[in-house]
Amino acid sequence: DRVDLEFDQLGLELASTGCCGGRRRVLHGVTGSLRAGRVAAVMGPSGAGKTTLLNVLSGRWDRRARLSGRVRVNGDSALSLKSLSPLVAFVPQEDIMCRELTVRELLEFSAAARLPAACTQARRRAVVNDVLRVLKLVGIRHAVVGDELRRGISGGQRKRVNVGMELVADPSLLFADEPTSGLDSATSLDVMHAFHDVARRGATVAVVLHQPSMQIYAAFDDVLLLAAAGRTAYLGAPSGAKKWFTSLGIRFPSDWAPPDYFMQILA
Ligand SMILES: Nc1ncnc2c1ncn2[C@@H]1O[C@H](COP(=O)(O)OP(=O)(O)OP(=O)(O)O)[C@@H](O)[C@H]1O
Ligand SMILES: [Mg+2]
Repeated sequence: DRVDLEFDQLGLELASTGCCGGRRRVLHGVTGSLRAGRVAAVMGPSGAGKTTLLNVLSGRWDRRARLSGRVRVNGDSALSLKSLSPLVAFVPQEDIMCRELTVRELLEFSAAARLPAACTQARRRAVVNDVLRVLKLVGIRHAVVGDELRRGISGGQRKRVNVGMELVADPSLLFADEPTSGLDSATSLDVMHAFHDVARRGATVAVVLHQPSMQIYAAFDDVLLLAAAGRTAYLGAPSGAKKWFTSLGIRFPSDWAPPDYFMQILA
């Protein structure tokens, strides 16, 4: 199923937190769209609401929180975000995998749990092999993940396994929260290729990231820049963001990579 999402002035007010009571607004008006077959970057300073936005778009928010704004799923405003949750795969910011299993076992378990029951074992195996290949995990497929005491695979490899566990679900919507943080630029590119593969099969992909290299930044189809306090600052092609800020009178120092400087402006 192809899913196009449009959201207009999305706001989220949390139920009272802490001593002072009162509601806390974490999204103030996020407007944008995510399209099937495309990979969008969601960028913004820490605390801007990137994780919150992905959570909301995947139908997960606290029952006591108040959501405002308009959402259209495939052009239909009657469909709710909650109804999308079975179609969503979410790569969390922190990994939560079982460290005693091997890389291959983790992907197989995830595929068995997430792919429809009608999916044959052969098909499932093919999906897992495909993900091992695109994420360059074939060489370590039999390695136990391990932890700090019983070392298994490296932190960056674990990061990729984390992505792989969601890719094997063959999702219609794929959201990934900083899947490339801590990876070198070549490995980050491998992960990005995996996302583009998923999008080519018709999925809608949104990726939160910090400090992408110019090459990775330019490889996105769309960019959604969030300013502090959860507002859309820019939505459009990667190449248009610098022009947009320049048109507002902002000058870019020559020794800053534009994506890094966007964060400086938005913070
Ligand atoms: N359930 C919650 N309870 C209290 N505060 C929350 C909750 N969820 C989000 N927030 C607040 O909302 C704001 C945005 O948080 P969010 O995790 O979405 O930021 P982020 O852009 O993902 O940041 P980072 O880049 O550091 O991961 C923060 O100020 C955070 O403290
Ligand atoms: Mg976050």
